[in-house]
Amino acid sequence: MDSIRIQGGIALQGKVRIQGSKNASLPVLAATLLVREGSVIRNCPRITDVFSMVSLLKSLGCSVCWQETGIFVDSSNVRKGKMPREAVTGMRSSLCLLGALIGRCGEVAMEYPGGCVIGERPIDLHLTALSQMGVTFREAGGQLCASADRLQGAHIILPFPSVGATENIILAGVAAEGETVLEGAAREPEILTLCRYLCCCGACIEGAGSSKIVVRGGRRLCGTEFRVPADRIVAGTYLLGCIGVGGSVFLEHAPVEELDAVILTAEQMGGHVCRSRDGLYVQAPARPLPVKLVTSPYPGFPTDLQSVALAVSSGGSGCTDIEETIFENRFRIAEDLKKMGACIEQADSRRVRVRGVEKLHGTQVEARELRGGAALVTAGLMAEGESLVRGCSFIYRGYENICRDFRELGARVTSV
Ligand code: EPZ
Repeated sequence: MDSIRIQGGIALQGKVRIQGSKNASLPVLAATLLVREGSVIRNCPRITDVFSMVSLLKSLGCSVCWQETGIFVDSSNVRKGKMPREAVTGMRSSLCLLGALIGRCGEVAMEYPGGCVIGERPIDLHLTALSQMGVTFREAGGQLCASADRLQGAHIILPFPSVGATENIILAGVAAEGETVLEGAAREPEILTLCRYLCCCGACIEGAGSSKIVVRGGRRLCGTEFRVPADRIVAGTYLLGCIGVGGSVFLEHAPVEELDAVILTAEQMGGHVCRSRDGLYVQAPARPLPVKLVTSPYPGFPTDLQSVALAVSSGGSGCTDIEETIFENRFRIAEDLKKMGACIEQADSRRVRVRGVEKLHGTQVEARELRGGAALVTAGLMAEGESLVRGCSFIYRGYENICRDFRELGARVTSV
């Protein structure tokens, strides 16, 4: 089941429920390590990255089980276990375990985290910040080893609002002695969710969602029940997908207040978007209009939706310019889109110009990373004829069931 077959050219119609957020679930699950009791984390999506995080928590001695509506994690007995190599190297967010384990055990040895091939993705910001809190790092046998005799609060200024580094600083800060003041913090909604979970457990954190976060560490945390919000990137994929494919859809539970930049882009493309308490109504234009798009940290247009926007503008009218400012290798799907008839000129590694064509045509393409894969499925839905997207295991890292979701919207999509 590594491929998806798509019969394109059918306008989307109907309602789809948006799954829980991947990028919120993963740090919250890592944070359960700091709670020496049981927590229930509801609405976690059933995706491979969450399965990997569950296996990592189990390898560290946590008792973890899936329940009907969530994941129960009891971290009373954490041991310095050997974490499964593939789960660490296959997923960038295994890096959150660094802050959480330093906080819980005072030391950690792990492989260098991996993730999608979308750029260099160094971890210098994580290491510099944690060093300021008293962590020392060394490399042994290809592993990253970290230890702290005394984890202390610090005044940290991030030169770039890295999401993962912000999460690690918060996780370590909650366990540290004294106050951690973080300036230049990422403002992504996933940071707010992580802080909400930790505060529900008894942590003291102020300023989450702003660029200055203050953590007063050292409090004892208690287990809690917590619900992860809906996935803004999955919602954005289906929102922009509808703009490209045509039709009108309702995205149930879409996190409306987190999607301003995406809704604005959809409207600039000619779509009508109506916010409601339960989600978003989207009505597509006859053909997407050209836009100028620049990705940036939240609240800007998310890099994780840039590939879908690229696919959508390939079938639009006029000339769209897209600038990617977060990752340097995120136009890898351009070659596959060109196989489908798209006209894309790449000025450099950060900029493309897309001249919209009347129709893409179906063909065989290869997903090479998560969001690029979802964008190729979207392109297949827009195209005339049949497309086959191979390499779909990347897509299942983040989308529970993209085929089922698009089928709910009337598309002819099957996993094969
Ligand atoms: C998170 O990755 C998300 N992953 C990514 O989503 C998302 O694309 C990214 O934030 C940006 O929004 C998760 O939440 C699990 P960063 P993260 O640290 O934390 C550079 C998806 O598809 N940087 O904000 O790894 C880095 O190279 C994924 O769901 C350093 O230079 O992102 C990149 O250019 C993919 N040094 C930029 O900052 C560092 O120490 C943003 O990275 C850390 C980061």
